Amino acid sequence: MKIKQYETSQLNDIKALFKNTFTDSEGETEGKMVSELAYEALTTSDGKDVYGFVAMDGDTLAGSIVFTRLTPANGAEAFLLSPVAVSTSYQKQGVGSTLINVALEVLKNEGVELVFTYGDPNYYGRVSFKQISEDVVKAPCKLSFPEGWLGQSLVSDEVSPIEGETGCVAAMNKPEIW
Ligand SMILES: CC(C)(COP(=O)(O)OP(=O)(O)OC[C@H]1O[C@@H](n2cnc3c(N)ncnc32)[C@H](O)[C@@H]1OP(=O)(O)O)[C@@H](O)C(=O)NCCC(=O)NCCS
Repeated sequence: MKIKQYETSQLNDIKALFKNTFTDSEGETEGKMVSELAYEALTTSDGKDVYGFVAMDGDTLAGSIVFTRLTPANGAEAFLLSPVAVSTSYQKQGVGSTLINVALEVLKNEGVELVFTYGDPNYYGRVSFKQISEDVVKAPCKLSFPEGWLGQSLVSDEVSPIEGETGCVAAMNKPEIW
C-alpha cells in the first residue's frame, strides 16, 4: 500500500470512494453528503489550506483522507482531519491507521502544530487523538456531539489552551456537519 498526496486526476475516483464507503456504512444520504463535502474541500479551498492523501494498492484507490485548515485565534498552524474513508473491501487491514499516521507525519514536516477531528473517540484514539474540551480549544461550529471533538499536538505532549474562536474553510463551515 502506497500513501501519497492525491493528484487532481484522481478527484472523481476520490469522490466515488467516499460515496461508496459511506453509503455502505451509513446509508445513501450520508454517502452523498460526505462525498460532496470531500470534493468541495479539495476543490474550493486555497492550496495552502488543504491536503488530500490517497492509499493506493497498485492502481486501485483503497483509501483517502482530507485535511483543511483551522484558524485558532492565536495563529497556530492547525488542520482538521475530515473526512477519511477506506474502501469497504480494504477495511480492518490497517490501511486507515497507516493513512492517518503517514499524513500526520507529512503535516508535521510542513510545520503543522495541531490537528483536530470530529468523530468516534474509540477509533481516533488509536492514532493518538484525545478528547478536547471546548474550554481548551473551541470548535468552528456548534457541536451536536461534543464527545467527538478530538485533537492532538504534533509538536508537544498535549494541546495547550487557546482562547477565542476557531475558524475553518468554507467547505467545512456548515452547521449541519457538526
Ligand atoms: C473508519 C475507517 C476509516 C477505518 O479504516 P480501516 O482501514 O478499517 O482502519 P484500520 O484497519 O486501521 O483499523 C481498523 C480497526 O479499527 C476499528 N474501528 C473501526 N471503526 C471504529 C470505530 N468507529 N470505533 C472503534 N473502533 C473502530 C476496527 O474494528 C478495527 O479493529 P481491529 O484492528 O481490532 O480489528 C474505515 O472503517 C471507514 O472508512 N469506515 C467508513 C467511513 C467512516 O466511518 N469514516 C470515519 C469517519 S470520518
